[in-house]
Amino acid sequence: MRVVAEEEEDMLPSTPGKVKIERAGAMTRQLHRCFASTGTMFLWALFLVAMTATYLSFHSFVDTSSRYFAASWGGLHWERQIRASASPRRPPGSAEGAGLSVLVTGAAGFVGTHCSLALRKRGDGVVGIDNFNKYYDPSLKKARRALLASHGVFVVEGDINDGRLLTKLFDVVPFTHVLHLAAQAGVRYAMENPASYVHSNIAGLVSLLEACKEADPQPAVVWASSSSVYGLNDAVPFSEAHRTDRPASLYAATKKAGEEITHTYNHIYGLSVTGLRFFTVYGPWGRPDMAYFSFTRNILQGKPITVYRGRDHVDLARDFTYIDDIVRGCLASLDTAGRSTGTGGRKRGPAPYRIFNLGNTAPVTVPTLVSILERYLRVNAKRNVVEMPGNGDVPFTHANISLAREQLGYKPTTSLEMGLKKFVRWYLSYYGYNRGTQAFNNL
Ligand SMILES: NC(=O)c1ccc[n+]([C@@H]2O[C@H](COP(=O)([O-])OP(=O)(O)OC[C@H]3O[C@@H](n4cnc5c(N)ncnc54)[C@H](O)[C@@H]3O)[C@@H](O)[C@H]2O)c1
Ligand SMILES: *[C@@H]1O[C@H](CO)[C@@H](O)[C@H](O)[C@H]1NC(C)=O
Repeated sequence: MRVVAEEEEDMLPSTPGKVKIERAGAMTRQLHRCFASTGTMFLWALFLVAMTATYLSFHSFVDTSSRYFAASWGGLHWERQIRASASPRRPPGSAEGAGLSVLVTGAAGFVGTHCSLALRKRGDGVVGIDNFNKYYDPSLKKARRALLASHGVFVVEGDINDGRLLTKLFDVVPFTHVLHLAAQAGVRYAMENPASYVHSNIAGLVSLLEACKEADPQPAVVWASSSSVYGLNDAVPFSEAHRTDRPASLYAATKKAGEEITHTYNHIYGLSVTGLRFFTVYGPWGRPDMAYFSFTRNILQGKPITVYRGRDHVDLARDFTYIDDIVRGCLASLDTAGRSTGTGGRKRGPAPYRIFNLGNTAPVTVPTLVSILERYLRVNAKRNVVEMPGNGDVPFTHANISLAREQLGYKPTTSLEMGLKKFVRWYLSYYGYNRGTQAFNNL
């Protein structure tokens, strides 16, 4: 490989159409010594150029596509599965109107699974896409996919950076909506693997929006931003009009960038965009990297848990929002999203651009969260209380949800007590730990 690369430097134009004259001349003199006839030399040169071109095209193919995407899609059978999954089961003209046809990204994720199921249950068509990455246990993602499959929802294994795959999906199905939930989540992991945030939350988002703006008809896009965009904002409760230009983590910065990027696609191409700022979502089938989940695991296994505390011994607090409330907010956003106005990648008129907080408006401190879990699990936690390190976490979150209430009819109904009860019940039935069985009977 190395030899070929060096040859390539010598033999190829440095920029298209520009030959390095001097080097080409030296090469010619060298080659001249070996081959007496100019005819043979010409053939050899042709051969070398052909070899290099083959190598180059192979190389760029490997670089741009195969690194992330294994082509496990395509074919007639695959297309049939996509079409069946995308077809609404609500007949046109039914009381609730014609069904939607929704492409859900991150469908094997926590929120994606719940939203896909809810859509399917009310008769909408759903196709999922997920890359099943290993940020947390992929077997949980596979189990969620199996759950979706049992309800007739097909999830394509693929990356949102794969433009060819997205184009294919829009060719097969005229999706009315895209619910974009795929992302690299987690605040602290950004210090370990910053590139994964750029890959999924920036490059992946742009790749998806490109496919949406090209699609005919263009879908309306509803996507997950995050409460983390409020960053160092300390006016409470957090309201959509507050400052979001001081993110405290790379994760938050990529979500904020997403709000700006979606705005440009709304402005230039007429895509209908709704950004949802979720506040700490929790519940059954949740994310193992989140505190309520890992606390539950560690408490059951008798391991200590680390509870962060803010400056001046102030407890951290979160506006924990139960998954069913978030799902209602997502579906209401899809139902009220106005149409995209572009065709053939051109805007025909202004399209809606909306941003909503989806929270619970009832912040709870982390120590309170722990004591609720202790009660349901019937095990005392071994708390290891430490000062919060400067790793991107903010001390508290609290949503003002008036806007979502007004425009989406959003009204969260699940308290942390109720929601954690449902989470613990699911956790014990899913993982079935011995220690847990006893607690299970007490719920
Ligand atoms: N759960 C929360 O508390 C919370 C809070 C605020 C915002 N959000 C946002 O909500 C969305 C859903 O979060 P979640 O909790 O369900 O997370 P999750 O990690 O369970 O789900 C995201 C899914 O997207 C997939 N994915 C990631 N990158 C991808 C890519 N490049 N191509 C294809 N698939 C990819 C992952 O495999 C995963 O299954 C995310 O955008 C997240 O940032 C979540
Ligand atoms: C919540 O936001 C609305 C605007 O959406 C504002 O009118 C109201 O005063 C805010 N409420 C509080 C308690 O800050």
